[in-house]
Amino acid sequence: MTPHSTSSNRHSRITGTGSFLPPKRLTNDALAAQLAADGIETSDQWIVERTGIRARHFAEPDVSSSDLAVAAARHALEAADVDAASIDLIIVATSTPDMVFPSTACLVQQKLGVAGCAAFDVQAVCSGFVYALTIADSMIRTGAASKALVIGAEVFSRILDFKDRGTCVLFGDGAGAVVLEASDTPGILASELHADGRHVDILCVPGHVNGGQILGDPLLKMDGPAVFKLAVGVLYDVAKSVLEKAGRSDSDVDWLIPHQANIRILQSTAKRLKLPLEKLIVTVDQHGNTSAASIPLALDESVRSGKIKPGDTVLLEGVGGGFTWGAVLLDL
Ligand code: UT7
Repeated sequence: MTPHSTSSNRHSRITGTGSFLPPKRLTNDALAAQLAADGIETSDQWIVERTGIRARHFAEPDVSSSDLAVAAARHALEAADVDAASIDLIIVATSTPDMVFPSTACLVQQKLGVAGCAAFDVQAVCSGFVYALTIADSMIRTGAASKALVIGAEVFSRILDFKDRGTCVLFGDGAGAVVLEASDTPGILASELHADGRHVDILCVPGHVNGGQILGDPLLKMDGPAVFKLAVGVLYDVAKSVLEKAGRSDSDVDWLIPHQANIRILQSTAKRLKLPLEKLIVTVDQHGNTSAASIPLALDESVRSGKIKPGDTVLLEGVGGGFTWGAVLLDL
């Protein structure tokens, strides 16, 4: 998508945030004990040292992405003081949809008890939320929508290979949401999205449904070091590019919220951008990697704790399977 920076008088602005974590919380020790029962060796020490993760939440088997999404959406609607019936666009970013179709967004619409507005999913894996937010912003600026619910929701626990210690300790479930409304003053200042399909194999779930059966492997595969290397490079480049488009500099950023994958990637991105680590929002320690949900979850927690305040400038950055990446710079 062609990068944009705001120029017309119609803008979009986040007016409310919400999130939801399924109640079941697993510490590294609890997960390690569970894996040990199957002969898989790991430890709290390895997980903390290599990733910064200390715990994650897993949804119960009967809870789906749309359930988490609806709970997060309700909190965001309440915070924005917006009635679900007045929403005219629902976008859900997810790689773990409830069904092959219809979209999780249509299921969310049904569960919110509303009908008629556009509703669709965005599949950009861990970059999904910045993709969805950029699409909603574009639709609002062109007049195609006025009040959007933008949600990231995942149940990655369903696609983890619990025999692969290199991946199953990294991910968690959860959802985050924002209400994005038309505004005379800019909230979203600039955004930029990218993909490079040459790297499809380094992070994928290669199985698919065929003739009533799953063909191929339906569990997550990742070449961790390859993803790590690419992520560190693109997160820096896209941050610089978005700041330049908005006419802002590193020092204008009050808060950096990168996709919460690994504390080492987060810290190296902040350092390369010359941002003090106090400006880096970190939730990966408590949530693990919740893919498309990680950024709106981190945003909502930081708003609710009073860390991020109205008027603050926030840089959101996504990176993940595809390979995909992108950034959104906004004034809250
Ligand atoms: O959400 C999309 C974005 N995803 C990411 O950004 C993930 C990017 N990648 C990473 O965060 C890191 O590459 C990982 C955390 C996945 C892995 O860390 P690493 O420092 O790159 O470790 P590695 O894969 O090179 O493995 C180092 C060692 C290996 O042992 P040997 O071969 O050196 O003997 C692994 O077998 O660590 C071993 N290992 C583990 N040991 C204990 C891998 N996983 C575990 C584990 N517990 N859970």
